[in-house]
Amino acid sequence: MLEKPSYLFVGAGRLARHLCAYFDLLEISYRRWSRQDKISFARATSGCDSIVLCIPDDAIESFIHQEAPALNHKPAWVHCSGNLSTPLAQSAHPLMTFGQNLMTLKEYRSIPFITEAGRADFKTIFPELDNPTYEVKAELKNFYHAWCVLAGNFSTMLWQSFFDTCEKRFDIPRTAAFPYLEKVTQQLQHDTNPLSGPLARGDKNTIKEHLDSLEGEPFKDVYAAFVKTFTALESKEPSHAKH
Ligand SMILES: NC(=O)c1ccc[n+]([C@@H]2O[C@H](COP(=O)([O-])OP(=O)(O)OC[C@H]3O[C@@H](n4cnc5c(N)ncnc54)[C@H](OP(=O)(O)O)[C@@H]3O)[C@@H](O)[C@H]2O)c1
Repeated sequence: MLEKPSYLFVGAGRLARHLCAYFDLLEISYRRWSRQDKISFARATSGCDSIVLCIPDDAIESFIHQEAPALNHKPAWVHCSGNLSTPLAQSAHPLMTFGQNLMTLKEYRSIPFITEAGRADFKTIFPELDNPTYEVKAELKNFYHAWCVLAGNFSTMLWQSFFDTCEKRFDIPRTAAFPYLEKVTQQLQHDTNPLSGPLARGDKNTIKEHLDSLEGEPFKDVYAAFVKTFTALESKEPSHAKH
């Protein structure tokens, strides 16, 4: 049985809030510190075995360099970035998006955590948690995280802009588009060929008219890039065109 560490979560943003909620649901004790707090970081860490950094990727290494020398003990440093690989800290990246609404215990338990191959495994970092866990090699972390951002963040930008366009340009409430989004999600999970539409059908004239209609819009380049990417995928793997 692995020894249970005492945790300090650093940060007051999205991830810190959700990890604390998960720990609350499991009744695992922890402390929390952010740079807005009155007490010093060194004092907050006293007695903590594991410091879990929930701060921007770019701040992680400088934070450890700045704070570690002043500590009179040697805690385990953990970060949650999917992109960063550093000898200064272990990592566990939750393959999930964290928004305003907290989740249920079942949802938190189903989040996969991705650790770095050859470094501390998930059970060593968080012995109390039973989440699914996978490893990614250090040299593939940038590629892995680029895909997380493409899939999760960029599709969010698309849908958010579509909802805004429905409301502002067509006077259609955003909720009217929710069943469409839900079906796209379901088909992605359950259909072998979820892609429909003019790219899948090869409706070249429709695609040209779409591009013309998007003249001057920020998303015109995105549409054109998808057409180019679809053509590249087709030459590699023709199944993308089936519908
Ligand atoms: N959000 C997600 O969906 C998600 C998913 C997977 C992994 N992650 C990872 O989780 C980590 C945190 O992301 P987040 O989305 O929670 O960020 P966030 O909501 O922007 O919160 C960042 C927090 O870090 C603090 N902070 C910023 N710079 C700092 C510094 N130099 N020193 C100390 N504290 C600093 C901020 O404090 P102030 O309020 O004082 O600015 C804020 O409390 C990142 O490594 C990210 O890659 C996030």
